[in-house]
This record gives sequence, C-alpha cells and structure tokens, in this order.
Amino acid sequence: MSIRTTSDQWWKNGVVYCLDVETFLDGDGDGVGDLAGLADRIDYLAGIGVTTLWLMPFYPTPDRDDGYDITDFLNVDGRLGDLGQFVEVVRTAHDRGLRVIIDLVVNHTSTEHPWFQSARSDPASRHRDWYVWSEDKPDDGEMTETFPGEQGGLWTYDRKAKQYYLHRFYAHQPDLNIANPAVRDEIARIVGFWMQLGVSGFRVDAVPFLIETEGITGAPEVDPHRYLKELRAFISRRKGEAILLGEVNLAPEEQRAFFGDEDGDELHLVFNFTVMQSIYLAMARQDAGPVEEAMRSLPPVPFDSQWATFLRNHDELTLDKLADDERQEVFDAFGPEPDMQLFGRGLRRRLPPMLDGDVDRLKMAYSLLFSLPGTPVLFYGEEIGMGENLAADEREAVRTPMQWSDEPGAGFSTADPEGFPNPIPEGEYGPLAVNVVDQRRDPESLLNWFERLIRRRRETPELGLGCSKVVDNDVPAVLAHRCDWDGATVIALHNFAPEPCRVRIRLDAEEDGDADAVALQDLLDGGYHEIDDPSEVTLELDRYGYRWLRLLRRGQRRMP
Ligand code: NOJ
Repeated sequence: MSIRTTSDQWWKNGVVYCLDVETFLDGDGDGVGDLAGLADRIDYLAGIGVTTLWLMPFYPTPDRDDGYDITDFLNVDGRLGDLGQFVEVVRTAHDRGLRVIIDLVVNHTSTEHPWFQSARSDPASRHRDWYVWSEDKPDDGEMTETFPGEQGGLWTYDRKAKQYYLHRFYAHQPDLNIANPAVRDEIARIVGFWMQLGVSGFRVDAVPFLIETEGITGAPEVDPHRYLKELRAFISRRKGEAILLGEVNLAPEEQRAFFGDEDGDELHLVFNFTVMQSIYLAMARQDAGPVEEAMRSLPPVPFDSQWATFLRNHDELTLDKLADDERQEVFDAFGPEPDMQLFGRGLRRRLPPMLDGDVDRLKMAYSLLFSLPGTPVLFYGEEIGMGENLAADEREAVRTPMQWSDEPGAGFSTADPEGFPNPIPEGEYGPLAVNVVDQRRDPESLLNWFERLIRRRRETPELGLGCSKVVDNDVPAVLAHRCDWDGATVIALHNFAPEPCRVRIRLDAEEDGDADAVALQDLLDGGYHEIDDPSEVTLELDRYGYRWLRLLRRGQRRMP
C-alpha cells in the first residue's frame, strides 16, 4: 500500500474528536472546563486512538452562542486559561501523536468585539467597512434566517451607527465584510498566528455565508470562491500539513464547488450533511435505500479533498435536507415530543436515547459511520454513549459536561454542579449509569468497543483514501458498499433491521479486478470466509449486524 499517501494526506485516514474545552474537564475547580483540564486528558484521547482534536471556540466571548460570538480572535477566554496553557495542550497532544485543529469563526464577530464597537460609534473608524451596513433596511433576497424565529431577521438597526447591519446568525453576531481586503488580511493574520502556535488546521464555521457577498454594497464582481482559494494557498504556504475542514450545509452538487478546482484547492474536508441525514431516515425506515441514494448522489471528490462524516455534533441534528414527510418520519421515530425538536428542522438529542439505548443498533450506526467514504468525526461523549439533557436550553441539551465518573459533578468538576456550563443529565444517561471510569473496567463496554473500532479504522486506509461505491444486494434493509484503493478492497455490510439476515452480493466485476477473489477476511471479528463462487457470495448478518470484509485475492496475505 502507498504509505506515503497515508502520511501526506493524514487527514484522510484520521479520526477527529470534537470537544468544547468548557465542558470537557475542569482543572481548577471553578465549575468551568479549562485548558489545564484538557491537558490532563490528552492521554485518554490518545488512548482511545483518535488522531485529531477539534477544539470548539475557546476565544474571549460574552458566550451568547456557546463561544461562536468572539471578541478577540487572538486570545483565550480567561475562564478557560491562557495562551501559555493553549501551547501546553498543543505540545502535549503532539507528543502523544495527536494533531489539533481549532474553530475558525470569521463570518462574524460578537457585537462586543472592539472592531464592531468602533465601527458603530465612528463613521470614520477604520473598522466601519469591516462590517456590512445599509442606510435602509434591504430586502432579504435569496438569504434566509439560520435560526428561524430566534434571530429577528437578517438586518438589525444600530442606533449609534444609524444604519442597519447584516447578520446571518443572531443579531449579536454582525457579519464581517469579506469583500474588504483588510478583513481578508486580518483573517490571514489570525490563521497565521494559530498555526505558529502549532495547530494543524481549522474547522471553518459557516463557509457559504463567510464567502458570500450578497448584501454587501459595492462588493467587487469576483467569484467568492477566490477568497477560499486564497485562504487555502496561504495556509499551505505557511504549513504544508494544515487543513481546512468546512461547514457547508448544502446539497452535494453545491458542496462540490467548495473543494475547488482540479485536484482540490479550497476546503480539504467538507462535512457530509446529506449522507448523515440519510442515515437517520434509513434507521427510521429500517431500509438502507436512503443511504444508497445519498451515496450515489455524491460527486466524485478531487484527489486533495475528502468528506468528513458524522452522526452528531454540537448543534441540533439538522434534518433540513430531507423532504417534509421524510423529516416527520425521523421525528416520529427518534424525537416525537415537541421539546425534542428545534427550529422546525432538527432534534436536540444525542444518538443513544434516540435509539432507546439499543446497543446493537448504536454500534451498527457507528460502524457505518466509520466505514463510509470520508474522515469520521466524533463529538465528545459519543464514545461512552452519553445522552442529552432536555432541561437545558435549545442546543445546550447536547453540550452537557463530559461524564468521567460517578462522583458528584460526574468527575468533570469538584465545584457545585449548580454552576456548571450546562446541567448534567440524570437517570438512565446520567453519570451514575454512563461514565468513563466504569467503562474502562468493562471489556465489553461501548468505550472499549470504540477503541477497537478506531484502531481497525486506522488500519484500513481503503476506507478513507479509496473510491467507494454501493454494491447491489438482495436485502432491502442491508447497505453493502466497497472501497477500493491501491489494489486493495474492503466491503462493508450494514443491516438496518432488527432481524438477522442472509445477504447475497456479487464479486465478479471485471473492472474491479475481482476475478482473483478467494476469500473475505472479517476485520471486526477476525473470521475468514472462503469464496467458492464470486458471482454469488452469501453472508450472514445479525440483527443490526455489521461487517467489514477485506477481499483477499490469490497470493495476498491476511492482515493481522
Ligand atoms: C455554526 C455553529 O456550528 C453553530 O453552533 C453556531 O451557532 C453558528 N455557526 C454561528 O457561529
């Protein structure tokens, strides 16, 4: 296998772990997670085998949007630590073989950012044109509210500036003016700063909004993607390994443009919202069809690009790409109470409670996630099966503190839980039932299963680097897909139904070089399946069963 590629394109064969410093571990006992706490748990993270940490915003903030409202892009929020501790975290992570990427949130600032304060107070301020202003309230045009009913439109009147300013998110998050070269220079300075402190890239917030110039009076007529190409070129000049992982919640054909031209010269990774949503529909229907359709709808990605796959993140589980009746099917199956739903399009829940704690089904979902074309991204706590707390506001329901132990405060903090950033869940998914300490002791725990899955994923580069395609089979509930890379092939099977089944696939396609197939090695249970007739291979799957099978061709050895 081409080992050179796996290290150059490290992000294609990695496993990303997203965490919020504020809710991970409190090192100083004040009730808020911090960088000192995170530094303490780098060994835990290295131990479960993830390769890349994605740190959610840790910058100074009034915290009205969980830190996505920033007042200083070049600093650490005092509650979480300081730049020195940030460097310690990055250095420790590197020592343990982990890379760190951080959130880059430059579509907007907080209204409390000194740039906005000076822009609104003084028409002659050099920051005035860093934002998007209008004398009169403009039509929304093609633009829509991101948080319907919560953000009070897209344009808000500022009494000091005596003008309206644009905000694609909350009114306290004024959009920056990307068409202004001074803003783009500042963004370059910000990314340059953090790369110098050791980060290996950025999760870029709200990319389509960031580069869009609609609403900006006098914006030059240039392709907004040019800005993204400039950013990519800049980070690559500064640091060859650096990546951009972009939030682009658009249909696949529109997402393609964000990878850029030819070999890929914009985002390295783009979150695959379409496949994610199709998995929920497939689970609700117990029919693999929606995932097959979603995978077939994906455009080929350029050589220097890849999908990022995920099941849950820190936001609501958005189902905005589904038709209304499909979304309703998912709501009925996994979030029927109005209190579980948000913005009319999503669920403020974590996966285990959605699946009523059915561990077989949960493992099937994650096995699928890890076998799909792309780089899997986990949200902290998924590895132990944490649940949500619906008593928390809006999206905060899934942002509760990490559950380390069954101690008071979940081992997250020694302070009074009353002061925690978000309330810890109680009952079935509370820390007495779900925590790291207990699961480490139990070889059969979800945590130990995840460790094995992650190890196997890292040893199976076909999945992240290969070409993937759906394989026809004769059971509607089963998804079969294969990934081919560098003369090697892995076939994955996933059963969306609660009944065991036998499934037939063909492995005789000339173009796939299958003629020499002699056996399948089960990469998850170690079994070995001889192939007598490649035109009809029959395999068994348990209820919600899943298998990863490496095709052995004549003369090829089994892998350990
Ligand atoms: C996307 C982030 O994921 C979300 O949490 C945030 O509210 C918005 N961007 C605004 O920054």
